[in-house]
Amino acid sequence: MNVCVIGAGYVGLTTAAVLSSLGHRVSCIDQDKKKVTMLQAGRIPIYEPGLQDLIEENKNRLRFSDDLAAGINQAEIIVLAVGTPSLPDGSSNLSFLYKALADAAANIAAYKVILIKSTVPPGTNRAVLNSLREKGYGPDLLDIVSNPEFLREGSALKDMLFPDRMVYGLFEENERVLQLLKQLYAGIDAPELVTNYEGAELIKYASNAFLAAKISFINEISRVCEKYGADITHVARGIGLDNRIGPAFLQAGIGYGGSCFPKDLQSLSYTAKSSGLEPLILDAVQSVNASQLTVYIEKLKSLVPAFPAVKTAVLGIAFKPETDDIRESPAAALIHALNKAGCEVSAFDPKASLPEHLSGVKQTSNPYDAVTGADVVILATDWQEIKNLDWQRVKQLMKGETLLDARNCLVPEVIRAAGLIYEGVGRL
Ligand code: UGA
Repeated sequence: MNVCVIGAGYVGLTTAAVLSSLGHRVSCIDQDKKKVTMLQAGRIPIYEPGLQDLIEENKNRLRFSDDLAAGINQAEIIVLAVGTPSLPDGSSNLSFLYKALADAAANIAAYKVILIKSTVPPGTNRAVLNSLREKGYGPDLLDIVSNPEFLREGSALKDMLFPDRMVYGLFEENERVLQLLKQLYAGIDAPELVTNYEGAELIKYASNAFLAAKISFINEISRVCEKYGADITHVARGIGLDNRIGPAFLQAGIGYGGSCFPKDLQSLSYTAKSSGLEPLILDAVQSVNASQLTVYIEKLKSLVPAFPAVKTAVLGIAFKPETDDIRESPAAALIHALNKAGCEVSAFDPKASLPEHLSGVKQTSNPYDAVTGADVVILATDWQEIKNLDWQRVKQLMKGETLLDARNCLVPEVIRAAGLIYEGVGRL
């Protein structure tokens, strides 16, 4: 099939690369000319494992351009994957989506199916379709499908090729559209769920909210563990073995971040409040997350009496491993808080760079340089490369001996055997 993907962010690029690998001819369109030039030269603007190679392998079927008209003209399917960031009041900024849709619609001369992958509040797909129908785009010209994505940064290719489910939100029963979707995703084997627009929109929000709730839940329980001498990793394993709960997303730490959970929780809460509801759980999830870092910094203060007159090394800047994304990163927020408190900070990350407002903080290209002379080392992002450090060497290079594992990803006995004092989050 001929497919036009609008938006070359991590969802758009992953979708374009995977669809081309399934045999489709894909044009990936972005209005950012600089980004397009970079992609045309075979370089990708983000770090996502395997993506560069997949794009290279499929370059005969995958092209990048800023020419929307040409992309749309040739396509049977248009995939919309533009960002929907938060506005200051917590609602979603849909202006990029509306602009992309208007531009796309203006170029439609024959029947197309538009898949909206962008995360949008309930009611958006319906409003968009109604408005297009009013402008004369009848069912002979276009149909819209709400087709949320469930990709995680760091494992986006695998998540798209082997998803847990495929969700299609339709305006009404539509066999023609379902047949086209079958063709588009031929080669991907997953349970399919067909629902209305609002159902699909809410499946996406509720999935992210539930995952974030698991994290805030385990973080809150980790605080109780600390008070009563239990180890949160044992508690998490104990509850996760219950099939009804499951083991995933029960790793306590310094909170969730990234471009999705914080924005989606805010947007869903805003949406619920706009209709007169009181989203108690959604708000509690966010408030536990917001205070988790403060709780951790208080812990650091109690462990290191000289605080803030200490040199701290923070290992990890990205919001999670296997990405260079620092949006809403708890690690970056930690570095900011330490810097603001007056600590001397050095930071290391295998892929991510410090944000501009932290240009005063030293970033090293090697983890051992970051820990040299440090009173305290804090592991803030659970990269494999960081977990595998030679902790005896770290101890020799440090001035102090305290290691804070803010992701609960190390084996305390190994760290203690290296002569360091180990402190996790709610761990013994
Ligand atoms: C998330 C969802 O997992 C995807 O399914 C969804 O498609 C995506 O948002 C999106 O809406 O586009 P992502 O933000 O890439 O994916 O990353 P996650 O792996 O979900 O991690 C989010 C945050 O939670 C990270 O900061 C991570 O360190 C933290 N986390 C995760 C924990 O603190 N504990 C855990 O047990 C798991």
